[in-house]
Amino acid sequence: MKTYQALESTKTEEGNTLALVEKNIDDLPEGDLLIKVSYSSLNYKDAMSATGMPGVTRSYPHTPGIDAVGEIENSSNAAFKEGDKVIVTGYDLGMNTAGGFGQYIRVPANWAVHLPNGLTEIESMSLGTAGLTAGLSIQALDSYRSGIGFKDTKSIVTGATGGVGSIALMLLSKLDSKVTAVTGKKEQIEFLNGLGASEVILRDDLEEVARKPIGKSIWDLGVDVVSGDLLTLLLTSLTPGGAVACSGLVGGPSFESSIFPFILRGNALLGIDSVEISLEQKALIWKKFAKDWKLDLNDLTKEVSLDRLEGEINTILKGNQVGRILVNLN
Ligand SMILES: NC(=O)c1ccc[n+]([C@@H]2O[C@H](COP(=O)([O-])OP(=O)(O)OC[C@H]3O[C@@H](n4cnc5c(N)ncnc54)[C@H](OP(=O)(O)O)[C@@H]3O)[C@@H](O)[C@H]2O)c1
Repeated sequence: MKTYQALESTKTEEGNTLALVEKNIDDLPEGDLLIKVSYSSLNYKDAMSATGMPGVTRSYPHTPGIDAVGEIENSSNAAFKEGDKVIVTGYDLGMNTAGGFGQYIRVPANWAVHLPNGLTEIESMSLGTAGLTAGLSIQALDSYRSGIGFKDTKSIVTGATGGVGSIALMLLSKLDSKVTAVTGKKEQIEFLNGLGASEVILRDDLEEVARKPIGKSIWDLGVDVVSGDLLTLLLTSLTPGGAVACSGLVGGPSFESSIFPFILRGNALLGIDSVEISLEQKALIWKKFAKDWKLDLNDLTKEVSLDRLEGEINTILKGNQVGRILVNLN
């Protein structure tokens, strides 16, 4: 009987506990592809699942991990053969299907994309769902601007030291936008400048620059992962025709807005989902990261093994994580 290691979350009366356990491959769910996972990554949602926060995972014990890259060990689908390298992100992986914090996953073939040429396994998981979401945000903004590109634009990114924020910041800077990073971490200003920010505003100071219900036109584009007051302020300070792509809610699920930005400046709020969108849309973004959007993620990424992951889970839940956590399952 073949076994593997996994980080498993179990519900107890005192809350969820995490432990490294030995699992049996036969206990994995049915699926077309058995994948030996080499790397995964840590996202905010994984921390929610791992600690039993509502809205992500219904039943425990459970192996979290919404991201995985690895090699096909067994396939019943003609599009994939043994030895192929594939990326799996989103859909139900790590939510109610055993996820990438285990050395094996078994998933339907329509959840997997081939690792594109030009992207390594480590690079794919240094990006992970956070990178995919940042990429989808930039792609949505680009489409909204009819593909004219970002040269000479001014952009603003919230949650800038986090996973989605830091990669959005790097990408916008690479595409020649002048990026303002918004952060709660005063001590990370230099780090954000190093990623390409031309200006850093501390979260609590944004209100001095952006005014409700409508303020000065400052930014052409925004990438927001926070929601709440920060999203409210971003919407008040866009240039005519400007847009914000929003994907997250670390600042709360609700935000206020007036109609002014929409009818006086033709602004738009673009919602981003990285989970349930088509595999073709995901594949397009991975290919871009393999070529035109190639980023050097070394300074952004910290590698940990499964037995060191619990501490990182607690850090991300407190909003204290900087950059990306790459999980090595080899
Ligand atoms: N829609 C989708 O498909 C999708 C995909 C991925 C992620 N998300 C969501 O996007 C959000 C960010 O995910 P992530 O993986 O990038 O998380 P992350 O790595 O924890 O980054 C979030 C960042 O937001 C800032 N922050 C934390 N708490 C805050 C608060 N109370 N108020 C304001 N800012 C706060 C922090 O950055 P600073 O200290 O620099 O401000 C933090 O590092 C989460 O809500 C996640 O669920 C959605």
